[in-house]
Amino acid sequence: MSDYVLEMKGISKSFPGVKALDGVNFQLKSGETHVIMGENGAGKSTFIKIITGVHTLDEGEIYLYGKKVNIKTPRDSLNLGIAAIYQHSTGYPDLSVTANIFIGHEKINKYSKTILWNRMHSEAEKYLKSLGADFDPRVQLGALSVAQQQIVEIAKALSTNAKIIIMDEPTAALTKRESEKLNKIVEQLKENGTSIIFISHRFEDMFRIADRVTVLRDGKYIGTWNKGEINSNDIILAMVGREINQIFPPIDKENIDEWKDIY
Ligand SMILES: Nc1ncnc2c1ncn2[C@@H]1O[C@H](COP(=O)(O)OP(=O)(O)O)[C@@H](O)[C@H]1O
Ligand SMILES: [Mg+2]
Repeated sequence: MSDYVLEMKGISKSFPGVKALDGVNFQLKSGETHVIMGENGAGKSTFIKIITGVHTLDEGEIYLYGKKVNIKTPRDSLNLGIAAIYQHSTGYPDLSVTANIFIGHEKINKYSKTILWNRMHSEAEKYLKSLGADFDPRVQLGALSVAQQQIVEIAKALSTNAKIIIMDEPTAALTKRESEKLNKIVEQLKENGTSIIFISHRFEDMFRIADRVTVLRDGKYIGTWNKGEINSNDIILAMVGREINQIFPPIDKENIDEWKDIY
């Protein structure tokens, strides 16, 4: 049995004119919150979209609980127990919260073929309550705040029994208070054994919720650290990189003898 819930090996993905991912490795442990950091354009979202089946990989392998899997569509990813929450809701604003939570796996009476709305509403209510939300699941999704819509997406992930929940920059559109609430929810999901991949630019998020952090830069895997092993300077360095000639002045032929004197 593998130590990892999810393992990605040598993942590469190109778009016309850009190698968005170049041999990226990644391992997610059971029940951990793994934060992925990197500058804009580092390849974070592309990496997530490969796990969620939005993009297919050019090269590399994906293992779930040690078993090689093919993820070709979002449906494949959902069926494997993976759910994603994006910065902005991808739900249907005109439909109720309940409909959004259960879309694709509605509760239906086998014999009469009727949709069991009351059962779905009460289950939706249960999920929302477990996430500390108190709005009515009968309201339209579009009537809710961004933070509330994210909670609906998390409730949806719980309703599909997702074992891996991925959040792509979820705090970017939230206020500080809403972010703190989301961080609490992440802690609670983790206590229930869910493994979480969390993408963020914010160091506060990272220091608050991460067990480990992985840094990507220019589509390349830079490294993975336990939270306690790394400070924000180290992470910035890993994210932006540092050319060797910024540390040492470039050596030209004229002053090479000087350098020899020093060393
Ligand atoms: N659908 C796409 N088509 C073409 N280029 C893309 C597409 N998605 C991402 N890219 C490019 O791939 C690189 C990585 O982007 P992305 O994964 O969104 O980075 P991040 O989420 O870290 O900001 C960028 O250069 C971006 O412009
Ligand atoms: Mg992104």
